[in-house]
Amino acid sequence: MTSLWLANRIETSPDSGRAEDLPEHADVVVAGAGITGLMTALLLARAGRQVLVLEARTVGACATGNTTAKISLLQATQLSKILAKQGKDLAAGYLAGNRAGQDWLLAFCAASGVPVQREDAYSFAQSEHGVAAARAEFEACRALGLQATWEAHADTPFDYHGGVRLEEQAQFDPMLFLDALRAELCASGGQLLEHTRVQHVSSRHRILRLRLDTPRGHAELRAAQLVLATGVPVLDRGGYFARVKPSRSYCMAFEVPGDITRPMMISTDSPTRSLRYAPANGSRLLLVGGAGHTVGREKHPGEALAELESWTVRHYPGAVRTHLWSAQDYASVDELPYVGTLLPDSETIYVATGFNKWGMTNGAAAALALSGRILGARPDWDRAFTTWRTGELRGLPAAMAANLAVGFHLAKGWITPTARLGRGRYGNDGGVVSGPPWHLQAQCQVDGVEHRLSPVCPHLGGIVTWNEVDRAWECPLHGSRFAPDGSVLEGPATRGLTADN
Ligand SMILES: Cc1cc2nc3c(=O)[nH]c(=O)nc-3n(C[C@H](O)[C@H](O)[C@H](O)COP(=O)(O)OP(=O)(O)OC[C@H]3O[C@@H](n4cnc5c(N)ncnc54)[C@H](O)[C@@H]3O)c2cc1C
Ligand code: FES
Repeated sequence: MTSLWLANRIETSPDSGRAEDLPEHADVVVAGAGITGLMTALLLARAGRQVLVLEARTVGACATGNTTAKISLLQATQLSKILAKQGKDLAAGYLAGNRAGQDWLLAFCAASGVPVQREDAYSFAQSEHGVAAARAEFEACRALGLQATWEAHADTPFDYHGGVRLEEQAQFDPMLFLDALRAELCASGGQLLEHTRVQHVSSRHRILRLRLDTPRGHAELRAAQLVLATGVPVLDRGGYFARVKPSRSYCMAFEVPGDITRPMMISTDSPTRSLRYAPANGSRLLLVGGAGHTVGREKHPGEALAELESWTVRHYPGAVRTHLWSAQDYASVDELPYVGTLLPDSETIYVATGFNKWGMTNGAAAALALSGRILGARPDWDRAFTTWRTGELRGLPAAMAANLAVGFHLAKGWITPTARLGRGRYGNDGGVVSGPPWHLQAQCQVDGVEHRLSPVCPHLGGIVTWNEVDRAWECPLHGSRFAPDGSVLEGPATRGLTADN
């Protein structure tokens, strides 16, 4: 389950600090070394701020190193949804922010020698069911001044019922980009520590005190400001975990004997088909993504994945899978990202989340907005990138529905575990939560090693489920994930599952 980008990567960690380099104080601490965190840190370091990036795992370990990395302003049906829910002013702000993010990324890649492929992007209907949504996206593009065209036909080996095309968008290898950000960050005086997790934050006399989990045990650090670029914010204040929906999707790379579709394409109807190519040793791999589900709520994610793979092989005969990986991202209940202060009345802790699987441009926009805010020069489009907006009431029905589902899964997790050992199509390992009426236990076997754990998520008490494809525990409430041995992988939880012997 290693992504093409992480597998390709030559291990380069010369710029990573060691745990003993942890300072006692930093002007700004950035938690998270994905696109949002590293770019925010670089922009602050360029402006002379003393910046320390703390990464719980390794650079790019979560969404950014496992994305499909299309850098596009045409984003499936995002613009039409935002336009319908938030109106033209905020939709225009969203587009302007994404354009600023895209421009920054492309200029940075050109200056630092990161290869970028410029290709057209399509949002297309794969059946009659997707035509209305594709049309609505086309209309939204036009209403917002984006020069998209309607294409009744396209040269694809799969069904195509019309779609929107936006010329000259871009795609890249996101790890090469992160490596370049990291190199310039460290050259500009910034510091980065991997394997260092922010676990708790308190505030006294306007100074933040951070409790960290480091390879040398627990440590403390003081900071004036903190940016949580951790996917979903890892502090519960502000309730972001209840304002976003975590969605996991799968990606595969294929060697294909014949022609590979050149544009970046994504379907407007289900099941999602997302395609692009990736340059590989003088030839190209086909990347296909889809099979998405809410984290922890899909009993057999392997089935949708198998369907996606057979769809690919059917349309690209002879395609051979070389890589399989997955990742998750967070969709906000009101369609717009949350970027800004954690709480409305405090300029000490900042967050960025809710990119809805379009974080290449949104993460870059968030970094521009957050660094601008910290440095006192906010971009004029950041009205669409805030954490507390009056229009959020429009997202209330979606938020209520999402949290009703959370309540349902909380109760279901405690009441209905079975003793079935889930076995996946992608391996012989398995995991199960057993009980009640006895005490609940999570048990799994991976590569011949057995683990017995408490299945109670340390975030807010959800009962985890086993993901047969990822071979990981997932919490169906707010998307925390844990390795087979219970150690925390991602999500709002900052501690792992406890052992149950
Ligand atoms: C399958 C998939 C495909 C996608 N495809 C595209 C695409 O084609 N185009 C596009 O624009 N977007 C795409 N996205 C979305 C995009 O990848 C994400 O929105 C973006 O990478 C998010 O970046 P980030 O820096 O905010 O978060 P992340 O990359 O997830 O980084 C967060 C970092 O924080 C660290 N962290 C977490 N908790 C702590 C803590 N307590 N202390 C310290 N560090 C912590 C994590 O380890 C992680 O490295 C896709 C997403 C998915 C899931
Ligand atoms: S992620 Fe919130 S309870 Fe598990």
